Amino acid sequence: EGNAEPSEARAEFVVVANRLPVDLDRAADGTQRWTQSPGGLVSALEPFLRSRKGAWVGWPGVPDVEVDEFTDEGLILHPVSLSSADVRDYYEGFSNATLWPLYHDVVAPPIFDRSWWESYVRVNRRFAEASAAVADEGATVWVQDYQLQLVPSMLRELRPDLRIGFFLHIPFPPVELFMQLPWRAEIVRGLIGADLVGFHRPGGAQNFLWLARQLIGLEPSRGSVGVRSRPGMVQVGDRTVRVGAFPISIDAAGLDALSRTKAVSERAAQVRSDLGNPKTILLGVDRLDYTKGIDLRLQAFHELLQEGRVNPEDVTFVQLATPSRERVEHYQRMRGEIEQMVGRINGEFAKVGHPVVHYLHQSVNRKELAAFFSAADIMVVTPLRDGMNLVCKEYVACRHDLGGALVLSEFAGAAAELSSAFLVNPHDLDGVKNALEQAITLDPAEGRRRMRALRRQVLTHDVDRWARSFLEALGSEPAA
Ligand code: ADP
Ligand code: G6P
Repeated sequence: EGNAEPSEARAEFVVVANRLPVDLDRAADGTQRWTQSPGGLVSALEPFLRSRKGAWVGWPGVPDVEVDEFTDEGLILHPVSLSSADVRDYYEGFSNATLWPLYHDVVAPPIFDRSWWESYVRVNRRFAEASAAVADEGATVWVQDYQLQLVPSMLRELRPDLRIGFFLHIPFPPVELFMQLPWRAEIVRGLIGADLVGFHRPGGAQNFLWLARQLIGLEPSRGSVGVRSRPGMVQVGDRTVRVGAFPISIDAAGLDALSRTKAVSERAAQVRSDLGNPKTILLGVDRLDYTKGIDLRLQAFHELLQEGRVNPEDVTFVQLATPSRERVEHYQRMRGEIEQMVGRINGEFAKVGHPVVHYLHQSVNRKELAAFFSAADIMVVTPLRDGMNLVCKEYVACRHDLGGALVLSEFAGAAAELSSAFLVNPHDLDGVKNALEQAITLDPAEGRRRMRALRRQVLTHDVDRWARSFLEALGSEPAA
């Protein structure tokens, strides 16, 4: 909801991400408005950056539009425009049909296409140039995610005075998988232009250090990398590059406070009653992405119904799925499969006026989401691979009543922190079914014990702490 006022200001703190925190939404009648961009990167960084009042360089989310820089409540938004061909080759192609599946354990086969790579290089250069134009002398520039891995080196060449950080929001893959990439050395060289390269997990940092040695002959430090501590080091000429692990998080206090409002609790009660006050509500909330394991959880639920282990009169499944990357073929195929499964389960087990699975291919606002979290007895988060997964942390932050249970995939980065969840291997369908059944029949005292432990972790490790620990390690923030 930005109100456009032009601004020439240069910033001391700049975030660069493929997307701006807001998307330009153009209705059929030609009217325009700004809405919040999808995904965890924006959810996590936006509250932090708003408190900082820096600049954000990114794409406004639609092809072929030129938008002037504007400020929104003190935050400078600097749009980078992408043509339809850029969107096809750099965004849908190299970013989301090459890197995304490759970095998520090749759960879908990555496509290697030279013209996509060339587009990735060109667009990364454009982001580097835009960042160079916005950053003040000696500013800190924080580059985000897999779409922009060449920006650190390109920006350093343009502006050696800057302090440059890079954070990867998705998993960094096992080295054997990364080595498939025809442009593997170029990517490592791109990242090494930063002063600090950050990952969610120490394993990612360690993999990167190994590749820096193998692919470009650097001599990384040998000690093991800790969480928020003991970063690895690589000497690159006269620069020391740090490589560390910084698990991202959410605005936990903000969500906790929101979930305590009367508006949210009333809405939660309304949701339950609209669903026919079932004994147990299961909830999934994801971008509609093949890494999220939405199909697996539906299949587990379906089998539990078929085996009579779950009574369709008592249990309702709600799946909220934000539309995502809808022109990429794999996403289209998966959407069809999921919608077919929903239809099949309801066909077998629904009664008129009472579906057992409610599926919304929609994005809902924060307040509505908090109400769904508050209403849900069991949150089902089953990605095959996920860098962190913020949804599970958001659920926990909303359960000040200590109600609810979390079923969580071991393959989400969050599993390392949320050990009191019901952890499952999403490839083990029987294991997922058992965990769901356990959660459905959970003793309330045991549930509260687990939720208390989960909340202790999430409320003390929020996104502000994540950002401060990264920026401290980058040397652009005094140590606490
Ligand atoms: P990813 O970044 O891969 O999408 P995360 O779990 O890290 O996964 O972050 C997803 C973010 O998008 C969360 O903040 C979540 O609340 C939000 N989100 C996901 N699905 C929906 C939806 N249907 N409506 C509104 N917000 C959603
Ligand atoms: C994940 C990625 C982000 C991305 C988001 C939404 O969170 O890490 O970089 O912005 O998904 O995906 P999209 O392709 O719509 O930007």
